[in-house]
Amino acid sequence: METSNKGKIRLGVNIDHVATVRNARGSNYPSPVIAAKMAEAAGADGITAHLREDRRHIGDTDITELKSALIKPLNLEMAATDEMLAKALEVSPNAVCLVPERREEVTTEGGLDVVSSYQYYREYVKPIPENGIRLSLFIEADESQISASKAIGADIVEFHVGKYCDLIEQNEISLANVEFERYRNMSRLAEEMGLEVHFGHGITYKSAGSLSKIDQVKEMNIGHFLIGEAIYHGLDAVITKMKKLINK
Ligand code: PXP
Repeated sequence: METSNKGKIRLGVNIDHVATVRNARGSNYPSPVIAAKMAEAAGADGITAHLREDRRHIGDTDITELKSALIKPLNLEMAATDEMLAKALEVSPNAVCLVPERREEVTTEGGLDVVSSYQYYREYVKPIPENGIRLSLFIEADESQISASKAIGADIVEFHVGKYCDLIEQNEISLANVEFERYRNMSRLAEEMGLEVHFGHGITYKSAGSLSKIDQVKEMNIGHFLIGEAIYHGLDAVITKMKKLINK
């Protein structure tokens, strides 16, 4: 089954780096919750926040406040630890996106290895859908990872598209095209399996337009670039521009 989604790609705005700026001064300013509300007003279809083990940007209070302040869905990114599971069940976001996390990394460097830790994830995720929370897994666009994600009960697979985005920024078009074809084929496969397809990581104006041509993608989650551009042009303007671009 193939369903075209032209004109219907949701934009998830990741507001982690508003908290990065706030934390640089250890104060309450700027507020990720105010930024998230502005993003909503500007047309964001959802808000994403990553509660990391080391709380380097988003903190526990941010998550609670986001949940009560937002009208649009909250997507909580987190590592598959007991602490985070308890937090997710307490806050009850619209979706949980499980990501691999290493304390020393600058950002999420790769996808979750669901295949290698299949038994662990299978048990771990059970309470998530049982509590009415959508389950998303941040994985590489790889057949075995997609199959394993389906088998443990994921609703969504978010493909790590960082490699493609980096290649596009470096103008390595033929290498980027290889990645693009992989995302396209794996998106078809995931949809055939009944999974919703999202893309995330490193997306900019340059990569968003081409990635949106993959018919199966239903949502793009974008953080660093949007918050960076917002410093130059304002959150409202960059969200409006990105939404137009992905739904051209
Ligand atoms: N999606 C996931 C699962 C992520 O881990 C991240 C980074 O936190 C993003 C999307 C957003 O990536 P970026 O900040 O590069 O746009």
